[in-house]
Amino acid sequence: MLRFLPQKNKYIVEESEFSFSKELPIPKHIAIIMDGNGRWAQNRRLPRVAGHKEGMETVKKITKHASKLGVKVLTLYAFSTENWKRPNEEVNFLMQLPVDFFDTFVPELKKENVRVEVMGYKEFLPKHTQEAVERAMEETKNNTGLILNFALNYGSRAEIITAIQSLYTQLQANQGNINEITEDTFADYLMTGFLPTDLRDPELVIRTSGEERISNFLLWQIAYSELFFTRAFWPDFDEQALENAIASYQNRDRRFGAVKNEEESV
Ligand code: FPP
Repeated sequence: MLRFLPQKNKYIVEESEFSFSKELPIPKHIAIIMDGNGRWAQNRRLPRVAGHKEGMETVKKITKHASKLGVKVLTLYAFSTENWKRPNEEVNFLMQLPVDFFDTFVPELKKENVRVEVMGYKEFLPKHTQEAVERAMEETKNNTGLILNFALNYGSRAEIITAIQSLYTQLQANQGNINEITEDTFADYLMTGFLPTDLRDPELVIRTSGEERISNFLLWQIAYSELFFTRAFWPDFDEQALENAIASYQNRDRRFGAVKNEEESV
């Protein structure tokens, strides 16, 4: 399948080897590194923030489509602990985006039975951003469909250190033994710990914009995730692109370190 993507005022062809199938497994948890907003805008001679605004529209589109496909958790990397290094004007714009997003989109999220969650160091967000996310979480908390999980002021190394600190405090208080720490108990202390255990780790991680790195995103949780990189900038990522990524996932051979079946062992 061929897709045409606008890039630097010309179209590039992105080839997808696989066809999406509703009959094959759909990942329960998809995590996305939404990259390329700035370049999308610069290619149009627009300010970078215009790319973020358009990126917000893509969030709406992809949330609705993921929900329709039966995805259970969609984790979106919206602002990293490193993004504070950007110019003030851009940071301020990014902190206003969740306010605009939730103000305009929560009624539709409610209709779609979507529950909003936000993971990250929320206490360091500006007050108006904190209030908007708390409101959206509160208003959707009883919804039972897709969990739309924003990573906002999130960084995975910091998350792991915070988890170790909490575990250590807990162990000391209970005079517990170090051997009580297992992979499962540790995962309870990570920011994805609020999710049911079978939904914490994404089966599929997508990064847009042609960059092929993880950028401090869900380092523990992606141990066995399938990774999908596309050249599409986030504002150009659409329903078809999501299905292409899932189609690629559906054709992966996931072995989790084992062999596929007995005959294949030597
Ligand atoms: C990376 O692109 C994108 C971000 C740092 C921000 C992502 C935010 C959104 C898509 C909007 C989120 C919406 C809500 C509701 C929170 P970049 O700016 O690094 O792009 P570049 O690599 O081309 O410069």
